[in-house]
Amino acid sequence: MYILGIETSCDETAAAVLQDRRVLSNVVYSQAKLHEKYGGVVPEVASRNHVRKMPYVLDEALAQADVDLRQIDLIGATRGPGLVGALLVGLSTAKGLAYGLDVPLLGVNHLEGHLFAHYLERGEEAPPPFLALLVSGGHTLLVHVKAWGSYETLGTTRDDAAGEAFDKVGKLLGVGYPAGPQIDRLAQRGDPHAVEFPRPMLEEPGFDFSFAGLKTAVLYHLRKHPDTPVEDLAASFQEAVVDVLLGKTLKAAQGIGARRVVVVGGVAANSRLRARFQQECATQGYELYFPSLELCTDNAAMIAAAAYVRFAQGLETPSPEESWRLSPKPGLSL
Ligand code: KG4
Ligand code: ZN
Repeated sequence: MYILGIETSCDETAAAVLQDRRVLSNVVYSQAKLHEKYGGVVPEVASRNHVRKMPYVLDEALAQADVDLRQIDLIGATRGPGLVGALLVGLSTAKGLAYGLDVPLLGVNHLEGHLFAHYLERGEEAPPPFLALLVSGGHTLLVHVKAWGSYETLGTTRDDAAGEAFDKVGKLLGVGYPAGPQIDRLAQRGDPHAVEFPRPMLEEPGFDFSFAGLKTAVLYHLRKHPDTPVEDLAASFQEAVVDVLLGKTLKAAQGIGARRVVVVGGVAANSRLRARFQQECATQGYELYFPSLELCTDNAAMIAAAAYVRFAQGLETPSPEESWRLSPKPGLSL
């Protein structure tokens, strides 16, 4: 079965082709450069550029996969959460294609898509149940994945997501957008214990997170000590985020008796986070899995994978009328 995936929830215009669970192509056009001068994603600019780039991204995904559009059997497109205008572009494209090709279209939850990044690479050797930490620009979630399609959210952020904190602190430090990868790079030359920033919520019961206070702590420190090397600030901030994510994840794993931990989403690309999780999970005897870097950040292969499994398992088999009625859900939860 050939599956076409389409992802446009934020500022990546993405399309991918799978043959069952095998990725034949995974094309991502990042608009980051267009948004950089505004210091973040401008929704209207994102929507307009999805419209502009989508035909090329689609063509490229089909060409790289060496698949003709008429061979596609199933389409999966992100329906939420995300920016409504951006979602609308991908979903409308998908509806047009599904109508023209007379194939089913599934609206995919972007958060479930991130979990399926794991399915694509290691899902067979390490299937559910497992504990997932989903850390992206918009979300920070601890999820008990009981089976594909069956999720229990154990904790979430009360304010900023982890990736959002990276991006906001990046702004304070004067690095470009998106700041996550830049802070990661700067931090490699800094001292993670130069400044002992707070570890919000780490000692509190429950599995919720809060990162807004940490961002403010960086701001106050900068005002008081403007000469602190930016590498030390980056490393110290990053260490605080990783400490909290790691501490809460291990606590949740223990709480539900999980032996297997999976970390997904853009922030899962962070090198310090990967190293610390690897070290600690090995010490404590947890199996740990990260997707490769290109499947951590937003892409359409993970969206196609979620659609494929939902369809193949019979969790969703929409009629053409149901497909055409799909609407974006900007606030969709897992
Ligand atoms: O999953 P994703 O591509 O998009 C959303 O669904 O939000 O995640 C993007 C987020 C951004 O906030 C970006 O700064 C962060 O992931 N990010 C990183 C790294 N690479 C991307 N954060 C820390 N370290 C990284 N290496
Ligand atoms: Zn995402």
